[in-house]
Amino acid sequence: MPEGFRLLPQQASSIAPRVDALYFYLIIVSVFFTLLIAFSILYFAIKYRRRSESELPHGIEGSMKLEIAWSVIPLVIALSFFFWGASVFFAINRPPNDAIEVSVVGKQWMWKFQHADGQREINELHVPLGRPVKLTMASEDVIHSFYVPAFRVKRDVLPGRVATTWFEATKTGRYHLFCAEYCGTKHSGMIGWLEVMDPVAFQAWLAGGAGSESLASAGSKLFAQHACNTCHRPDSLARGPNLEGLFGKPVTLQDGRTVVADESYIRESIVTPNAKLVAGFQPIMPTFQGLIAEEGLLQLVAYVKSLSKVAPSPRGIVPPVKESAPEREAPK
Ligand code: CUA
Repeated sequence: MPEGFRLLPQQASSIAPRVDALYFYLIIVSVFFTLLIAFSILYFAIKYRRRSESELPHGIEGSMKLEIAWSVIPLVIALSFFFWGASVFFAINRPPNDAIEVSVVGKQWMWKFQHADGQREINELHVPLGRPVKLTMASEDVIHSFYVPAFRVKRDVLPGRVATTWFEATKTGRYHLFCAEYCGTKHSGMIGWLEVMDPVAFQAWLAGGAGSESLASAGSKLFAQHACNTCHRPDSLARGPNLEGLFGKPVTLQDGRTVVADESYIRESIVTPNAKLVAGFQPIMPTFQGLIAEEGLLQLVAYVKSLSKVAPSPRGIVPPVKESAPEREAPK
């Protein structure tokens, strides 16, 4: 559909105006200095041109005032880029605790989505208006990049790790979704739509899914199927760390380092268990590399996360609609 000329894509997320404001600031500062320098060159070239063959220029003494001015002013301007940029960067990288979770798997050449309560989609993602949505993303093969221009959201999805990003849609509608990293022959076809619905319509849409299983409960099945529970258990027979309440907490490793148990750490601990061995445990866990598909890994991550929820529902994870309070902050 033709939209007419736009300098930038429309703004449809809460972060979009902030990204654009910063972007305009960078453009304005760049244009100002480009013009200032260009006109100064012209002006000085004319004013101080050589007027006769015999003319000799005067010696020029330095000027401390000028030196300080043209060092300090650019420093202040450059720091303003830094602080403004950092504040936007932090906002983009810190999903709110009450975000709805969606797992995303990129593969040649499609985007696969799965909602927390199990609803699956391909190359199309339905989200509610005005609610933060957190994407937990992994790649099955090569590097892809999840890009929604109208949301100003772009995040590379690398094989072997978990990337997260989030957004809050501020306008209903359908928005283009792209893969923004060349990933093979059909890279240009790895596109889709992000559909922002009002919350009531979204609930209706979500409820229309045919008997799908929640991410966390699919994860708990995998957990049992691979007999993870024979070692990861809360009692004294445990040969692996207890996973209850683990997510989001710092973990002390054998080599003395401390890491936070986030999505990437949990995924890594499943496929390469000895990469970050927890202090006090033997390196006895086998690798599950190649045994569990990327989607399964994200389900296991969702399951481990659900073990840290304040009040797990019988299905293992609190359905998104009922989530209201931040979950990870409950003091124990
Ligand atoms: Cu996936 Cu380009």
